[in-house]
Amino acid sequence: MSMHNPEILHKFSPSTCKGITDVFNEIKDKLSWSEKESILDVGCGTGNVTTNVVIKFSPPDSSITATDISLDMIEFAKKTYNNPRITFALMDILDDNLLTKWKEQQFNKVFCFYVMQRIVDDKKAYTNMYKLLKPGGEILVAFPGKHGFDEVSPFLANIQKYTSYREELFKMKFHASPKEDYVSHSTQVLKNIGFNVITCKTIPITFQLNSIYDFVEIYGLASRLSDILPEDLFNEAMEDVKTIIPVNNLFGHSNGNCYVNYELIILIAKKPLQE
Ligand SMILES: C[S@@+](CC[C@H](N)C(=O)[O-])C[C@H]1O[C@@H](n2cnc3c(N)ncnc32)[C@H](O)[C@@H]1O
Repeated sequence: MSMHNPEILHKFSPSTCKGITDVFNEIKDKLSWSEKESILDVGCGTGNVTTNVVIKFSPPDSSITATDISLDMIEFAKKTYNNPRITFALMDILDDNLLTKWKEQQFNKVFCFYVMQRIVDDKKAYTNMYKLLKPGGEILVAFPGKHGFDEVSPFLANIQKYTSYREELFKMKFHASPKEDYVSHSTQVLKNIGFNVITCKTIPITFQLNSIYDFVEIYGLASRLSDILPEDLFNEAMEDVKTIIPVNNLFGHSNGNCYVNYELIILIAKKPLQE
């Protein structure tokens, strides 16, 4: 089970749709929209957010290119969603040779939702977004920073069968490149590339799930545990997490629901009209 499993990602995508709808409602006035936008969605996953949220908030004549590094995701998106305004395609936003496959200054907007927490080299990703943007174009990026899930793996680290992975489990964070302060870090990276930063802030999110089983499933999908543990131990860890959470009273519960809190970083930055 990894981030590249479209079925599981799709099962939880309604909550991402809701989160990104809240983001748009909060910041839509900060973006400068024209009548006809050419929009790139980076890391579109199964295409649910692109089809049901991005479309809703973008001008009716816009075209949207929704891209992902994973062929499984793109194939799933193509067979699940069919909208004449959306084209699904493969793209690795960390590709060193991006401009041999894509046209420089092709897009007015670049959106990137729930992807940057998986990316260590954020400077490379933002530099590629900058190259793909037209002058005056904008990026809107949202990703979790500090996450309640970060509390789980230190408990795994203390179980003997995971001894060989102890150090990594102790320091494992939801974000692949943990920072003390994502707002000041991201602002600096974007400014160094040449962006004008319009907004960079953190909002608190409470993520609600219907059961501990859903909780463990999304933890297995979204955390970096599958990058650290071999498959057999990963499967055992999924079982152990079902006990670790209630025994240590890690997350809020009420009426059979579970809640986990995390901070969502939202940033908007503009490529200057003249460099
Ligand atoms: C949690 S999903 C988010 C999907 C969608 N944006 C949403 O909000 O529901 C993260 C996606 O980022 C993709 N991804 C990871 N690294 C990437 C990269 N370097 N370039 C493009 N996509 C990437 C993964 O394949 C996955 O589909």
